[in-house]
Amino acid sequence: MAIQIVTICGSIRPGNYTSMALALVNDEFRRAADIELNTIDLDAVDLPFPGRPAKSKKVEEFREAVSAATGVVLATPEYHGSFSSLTKLAIENLGFPSVLAGKPMALLGVAAGQIGAIKSLEHLRSVCSHVGALVLPALVSVARVQDVFDESGKCLDAQAEKRIRSVATTLLDYIHGSICPKVILEAMMRAPAA
Ligand SMILES: Cc1cc2nc3c(=O)[nH]c(=O)nc-3n(C[C@H](O)[C@H](O)[C@H](O)COP(=O)(O)O)c2cc1C
Repeated sequence: MAIQIVTICGSIRPGNYTSMALALVNDEFRRAADIELNTIDLDAVDLPFPGRPAKSKKVEEFREAVSAATGVVLATPEYHGSFSSLTKLAIENLGFPSVLAGKPMALLGVAAGQIGAIKSLEHLRSVCSHVGALVLPALVSVARVQDVFDESGKCLDAQAEKRIRSVATTLLDYIHGSICPKVILEAMMRAPAA
């Protein structure tokens, strides 16, 4: 059974750097065996505010994709000292109680400033933990992102690229070490006796 990974980008700004960083994470997932990767384009989902009707089935499909995921990556830009409102709106559209509950989650933050996305990641960790997600301790923050990627999305900093790619490997290591053994054990227990 393939491991289902969902990655979500919290910026829809044209030419945004968060999706450039997340593209490296997605590439790392694609290199791994037995992974089904679902990259969510929040621009296409067109999330409503809570209480407003969904404009299409894509909102329900987004929730179902996250619900079915083995693990989730959430990438956010740092906007005004926190994570983006779009990132929060994505979380708010994932249900109350949230389908993120019990899911291993890896967080990636991207900032123009030199202190990086530390504040957005700490705030995001708090919210994701609040809804019950199992947020992995290794948060990855990219500082001065405009020096890390060129405008075409090419990464110019080998060390930063390694750290960004580790978002994928850390999540997969956790899933292989802590989730897969339980799934395999349960399948063995449920299998009819020979
Ligand atoms: C509304 C807004 C607020 C921002 N606030 C901050 C900030 O507080 N700290 C910071 O380092 N960069 C800030 N930035 C710059 C972003 O971190 C920068 O655009 C970076 O590339 C990540 O955003 P992006 O994925 O949309 O490109 C802000 C950008 C916008 C559009």
